[in-house]
Amino acid sequence: MFDLNNIRLGYTDAVEKGYFAEYSPAYVTTNEDIKSVVRYLKPSGKRVLITTGSGDGPMLFRANGASDVDSFDISFCAKAIMDMKVSALQNMSLNQYITFLKSLRNANQFDKYADTINGCPMLTRQFITHMNGCNIFSNGQGVDDCALPNPEEYTKMRKNIHSPLPFIWSDLDSLSGKLTKKYDIIYLSNIFQYEKDRNNIVRVLNSLRPYLNVGGHIMVHATWYFRNFETDNYMWAADKVKSWGRLYKMVNDGNQYAFLQRIR
Ligand SMILES: C[S@@+](CC[C@H](N)C(=O)[O-])C[C@H]1O[C@@H](n2cnc3c(N)ncnc32)[C@H](O)[C@@H]1O
Repeated sequence: MFDLNNIRLGYTDAVEKGYFAEYSPAYVTTNEDIKSVVRYLKPSGKRVLITTGSGDGPMLFRANGASDVDSFDISFCAKAIMDMKVSALQNMSLNQYITFLKSLRNANQFDKYADTINGCPMLTRQFITHMNGCNIFSNGQGVDDCALPNPEEYTKMRKNIHSPLPFIWSDLDSLSGKLTKKYDIIYLSNIFQYEKDRNNIVRVLNSLRPYLNVGGHIMVHATWYFRNFETDNYMWAADKVKSWGRLYKMVNDGNQYAFLQRIR
């Protein structure tokens, strides 16, 4: 599975060039208001496909009763932090969990996390122990306190999450080729913030249509505010997908979202 020689090279290259790739560092917590999207889309009993990111999104949807939560990410570091969080969740109190998260961003020696790593799948254990010396959880600004679970959420996470969540190692462009089921919710984080070609936004949305149930939603882009060209791009895209979906903007609590609901 892993070419151990290459993964450290892949990590170093991604850090030096500052782009997302197979081994680019993960975020310790999300910086998106996924909690409000969960309140809006009510995932209980629904099938969800979501960007892994820091793991917070998949775990939040699962904690709120989603029947299936599959996640995808271009970087294996995203899977590693999600597995570490699920493992930590089984044995830690909320305060211990928060202290653990706050220690991760600057962590590059992982022996002290042996108990948590031992609770991860074999491949993740192999990956993390091989990456000693690398800050594989250092993307972004560190812990966003708004993203941390409150006691009620932590209780729901512990009640509903007992084993590693399914992961698809893929970039968004080729994701549809790896999907085998239909979802009610597809959450794409802010990956399109880095997309320069609006044609590719529409190509990707059309490629995901067969994997979205009618009435289902794609959270296309989460951000603090859309820049003018992004608004222009989504208005243009809305016209391109109107035969099967309604692409609309939602604003709340200082956050902005583009949603696409499949109507046929
Ligand atoms: C875009 S980043 C930004 C962080 C995000 N705002 C959050 O709160 O988690 C989120 C995740 O998307 C992943 N990612 C970035 N570009 C991607 C792509 N083209 N395909 C798949 N995953 C991608 C990154 O590895 C990262 O884990």
